[in-house]
Amino acid sequence: MRKILVTSALPYANAPLHIGHIVEYTQTDIWARFQKMRGNQCWYICADDSHGTPIMLHARQKGITPEELIAAMHEDHQADFRDFRIGFDNFHSTHSDENRELASLIYERNLAAGHITSRKIVQAYDPEENMFLPDRFIKGECPKCGAADQYGDNCEVCGATYSPTELKNSYSVVSGAKPIEKETEHFFFKLADFEDMLKAWTRGGHLQPEVANKLDEWFEAGLREWDISRDAPYFGFEIPGHPGKYFYVWLDAPIGYMASFKNFCEKQGLDFDEYWAEDAGTELYHFIGKDIIYFHALFWPAMLEGAGFRKPTTIHAHGFLTVDGQKMSKSRGSFIKARTYLDHLDPEYLRYYFAAKLGSGVDDIDLNLEDFVQRVNSDLVGKVVNIASRCAGFISKRFDGRLSETLSEPELFKTFTDASESIAEHYEKREFSRAVREIMALADKANQYIDEKQPWVVAKEEGREQELQDICSMGINLFRVLMVYLRPILPGTAESAEAFLNVAPLQWQDATTPLLDHEINKFKALMTRVDPKKIQAMVESSKEDMQAKPQKSAPAKAKQDAIADTIEFDDFAKVDLRVARITKAQAVEGADKLLQLTLDLGGETRNVFAGIKAAYDPGELEGRLTVMVANLAPRKMRFGVSEGMVLAAGPGGKDIFLLSPDEGAQPGMKVK
Ligand code: MSP
Ligand code: ZN
Repeated sequence: MRKILVTSALPYANAPLHIGHIVEYTQTDIWARFQKMRGNQCWYICADDSHGTPIMLHARQKGITPEELIAAMHEDHQADFRDFRIGFDNFHSTHSDENRELASLIYERNLAAGHITSRKIVQAYDPEENMFLPDRFIKGECPKCGAADQYGDNCEVCGATYSPTELKNSYSVVSGAKPIEKETEHFFFKLADFEDMLKAWTRGGHLQPEVANKLDEWFEAGLREWDISRDAPYFGFEIPGHPGKYFYVWLDAPIGYMASFKNFCEKQGLDFDEYWAEDAGTELYHFIGKDIIYFHALFWPAMLEGAGFRKPTTIHAHGFLTVDGQKMSKSRGSFIKARTYLDHLDPEYLRYYFAAKLGSGVDDIDLNLEDFVQRVNSDLVGKVVNIASRCAGFISKRFDGRLSETLSEPELFKTFTDASESIAEHYEKREFSRAVREIMALADKANQYIDEKQPWVVAKEEGREQELQDICSMGINLFRVLMVYLRPILPGTAESAEAFLNVAPLQWQDATTPLLDHEINKFKALMTRVDPKKIQAMVESSKEDMQAKPQKSAPAKAKQDAIADTIEFDDFAKVDLRVARITKAQAVEGADKLLQLTLDLGGETRNVFAGIKAAYDPGELEGRLTVMVANLAPRKMRFGVSEGMVLAAGPGGKDIFLLSPDEGAQPGMKVK
């Protein structure tokens, strides 16, 4: 029995999960479930990545503590994982005692071994907020093409890369103030100390070949010292002996794998060292996205080596998800949150679709929505589930649910069991698309068998009872083998199939022994077809998710926003602006930024949601006049239908001002 510890990258506790994340968690989960079915000991460990500047600022913006933000997000993430049937053995947080202790230990051991150094650097500083600014929190005009509103590290318009000091008219995204330069002492991890070890290790079969090649480029560019500290204010762990200095989030994030496992060991009475000691004989697998290879394949093994811990057995990187061939986009509705997907569709569909597309390489994978419907319906509903539904009725009605005592076609059954090791090999090597192809070829064979034997004809003829029972028992046995092979991908469907077959959770070896003289339960539909309308609805509500969210804006952002493309007068003339009286204003349960307004248009009443809660108490709005867009098509939002839009001006947050028309204005009056 192998002993395996497997991890997925720790999702940031800053935002809800989206279906891109689900690629990774599905891939890892399938692999872990497969290992467990094979009888190996396999622990699947993960955690929220809870530290860093974005989390600190996000919490501040919401008016809550970072602890409150990460606790809420933890719940959110856990619910999404549970509903996608991601079967973590432990899901912890990097903001934990275990992680604080392990991060300090790993830092101190590396320090004692001479791998940590410190020196003064100059960094951008927000003089209003009194904080140092990461590159991503500085914006300004691109020094090359002049495009407005570009981040401090690169221009999204012309692709130039530069340092934040080169930006023109730069401003802090936090306060809008112009950043100044300030000196500060930082700590650095001397990555180059590990160059020889890393060169050997990255060629030692622990990485995919294309990833090892990429690393060669990095070696050629030279291994630079890694900045592992950040100054207060920061949400993270203080560096032992250095008040006001914190570990950079990426230092303690991978240590979170160990910390979550430690937390699990304490709950389960397992031996932590068996998996992490320098000479551990167990296996350690990290599944990650291609964007975080540098951290996992260079910094992480070096930190572990420097602190006397074991290094990973394998790091497996996957590509990025695109939707209909393009980067996920909020405006197209293809930036689909995990929860939005779950609100509309069965998680088994997506697990299957991703599995059918995932190979062992780092290529991006595309979710083509039309192909998704077609593939799931034809493979899962049309082929796999169909086998059971074609045979089950006869067994229930004519044989009291009992399967035959012998297998009528042992050769055919053998073809199915013979595929077991080759399919297992595909799973092991993370060639899931190959596994799926082989399983579906078997499903075709099973359907062919039933087509040839025509149980529905046999059922009508007298004296062919035994034959009928044998054909249907055969069909159900083939179905059962397919469910063994598909169980890592479709845990929910497998569970329903186990209930129908009246058997214990399927294990890999079950594929070799048929189910004979055994009573099964009545068949219930195991899966329904994907309804394309639901896909449409999911895409629509992904768009709405975005619109329902008021503009997140740093005060300075509005100031600096470029004026959008011009429109013609005719376009403007289409906008029907009317004076409206706010007859009722109330908070919306579950929405922290919205107010629900009842607007009187001089006889006609409209319901409108507006993202102005931070700026106005509902009470002070009632009775006031405002200007609204009266001919905006109604939009379904999460909380109800919004029938228009009120006009307001201001940079956002507390500073939003509803336009108050002159005295003498009447509700319903046309403006302009
Ligand atoms: N917190 C870090 C990881 C720390 S691991 C010690 C992080 N978090 S993340 O939330 O941004 O991403 C989590 C994982 O999801 C990463 O492996 C990332 O590559 C993956 N994905 C995020 N978006 C993705 C797609 N659109 N497609 C596929 N995987 C994606 O990075
Ligand atoms: Zn530019």
